[in-house]
Amino acid sequence: MDRNSHALTIAAGVGIGVALTLTAQSLVGSKSVTKSTETGKKVQQRKPELREDIRNGLEECIGNTPLVRIKSLSAATGCEILGKCEFLEPGGSIKDRVAANMIKTAEEKGLLTPFSGDAVYEGTVGSTGVSLAIICRAKGYLAHICMPSDQSTEKAQLLRKLGATVEPVSPAPIVDPNHFVNRARTLASNHTASTTKPGRGLFADQFETSANWKAHYDGTGPEIWSQTGGKLDVFVAGAGTGGTLSGTTMYLKEQDPTMKAVLADPQGSGLYNKVKYGVMFDVKEKEGTRRRQQVDTIVEGIGINRLTKNFEAGMKLVDDAVRVSDEEALAMARFLVEKEGLFLGSSSAVNCVAAVRTALKLGPGHRIVTILCDSGTRHLSKFWANQDVGESWDMTLDDVLLANEKLVKPEVVERKVDAFHSEFGP
Ligand SMILES: Cc1ncc(COP(=O)(O)O)c(C=O)c1O
Repeated sequence: MDRNSHALTIAAGVGIGVALTLTAQSLVGSKSVTKSTETGKKVQQRKPELREDIRNGLEECIGNTPLVRIKSLSAATGCEILGKCEFLEPGGSIKDRVAANMIKTAEEKGLLTPFSGDAVYEGTVGSTGVSLAIICRAKGYLAHICMPSDQSTEKAQLLRKLGATVEPVSPAPIVDPNHFVNRARTLASNHTASTTKPGRGLFADQFETSANWKAHYDGTGPEIWSQTGGKLDVFVAGAGTGGTLSGTTMYLKEQDPTMKAVLADPQGSGLYNKVKYGVMFDVKEKEGTRRRQQVDTIVEGIGINRLTKNFEAGMKLVDDAVRVSDEEALAMARFLVEKEGLFLGSSSAVNCVAAVRTALKLGPGHRIVTILCDSGTRHLSKFWANQDVGESWDMTLDDVLLANEKLVKPEVVERKVDAFHSEFGP
């Protein structure tokens, strides 16, 4: 074969190959069909692959929430700041995962029987109560929620609408039998002992049960690992029971021991000093200026002044802590609405401030994942009572980071909360 005919053979071969490839591609692409528009123009339309995707009830809609790039915070810090959208859970918060796992674990142990009168008792500041209430309804149990009476009113109202019994309990120290958690435990055992009440009582025990951190070890952690393609530098989260921080960190560090975990702690909580210096302590206690029996902040859901088993489970894996003031959290919540249309609750705002401070400490180029725990709709009468975003578009990240200097005094926030209640009721 001379040079020219060799070249021709190669050209023909390549031509046939290209033709075959194009035919194969058009066959693979046969999921798209050609349709005529009203103007007679032909357009390609993709036909969706037919695959049944039906969840068997509300319980199967929990988890697999999106991970969103928070563009404004990422651009301002040079780090990629990602938020796990737990406010999109069916019960509106990250606590759906925990409530579902606590009930599943109890069922596996034979401690709950549907439609037998069995009731789940829990002491909670609200979010876990809502999650328990909806899952109990879905599965044939009753829910009895004890909560501190100083929490935002919409949570108690919502719980009642969901058919739960709500018992507001005056704030008290954890050693007091009337502390909301102790009260729930007592009521559960009274129910089981009762000869007149049908069914049994189960104390869910979110602060101490391992079913809490395991929900994040089996769910939140693997989801974040998969959604980031295994590429993240830091996980940032606040701690109420500590289940989210411990369970998620445990899983992520098993995959990549170089990943760092950072606690986001609101003012008034003792966990910051526990992580940084090994001592559970908050300066408000020393000053004698603490205004509340519980953690002295308007932030709900995170911050605590005792060590729980769920926090202890992952405590040694937590590398650093960031303390966030109420003013910074309020400014961040407002910033996220103004720049992103993200209307979030107080713990999410604390997490985002801590994520930003971590980004600024590490410098550009890192990927930081945090949790967007619940929506602002749960916090209208307290955390959000003081602020309306309106049409403004003028905040900068400095307004958040320097918020302490422009202090919105706590007394002012409290006055606004009182004004809200006198206008809209308790
Ligand atoms: C709104 C909200 N965010 C965050 C948390 C903290 O989660 P964890 O209990 O896993 O520490 C809670 C806990 O109740 C919560 O209610």
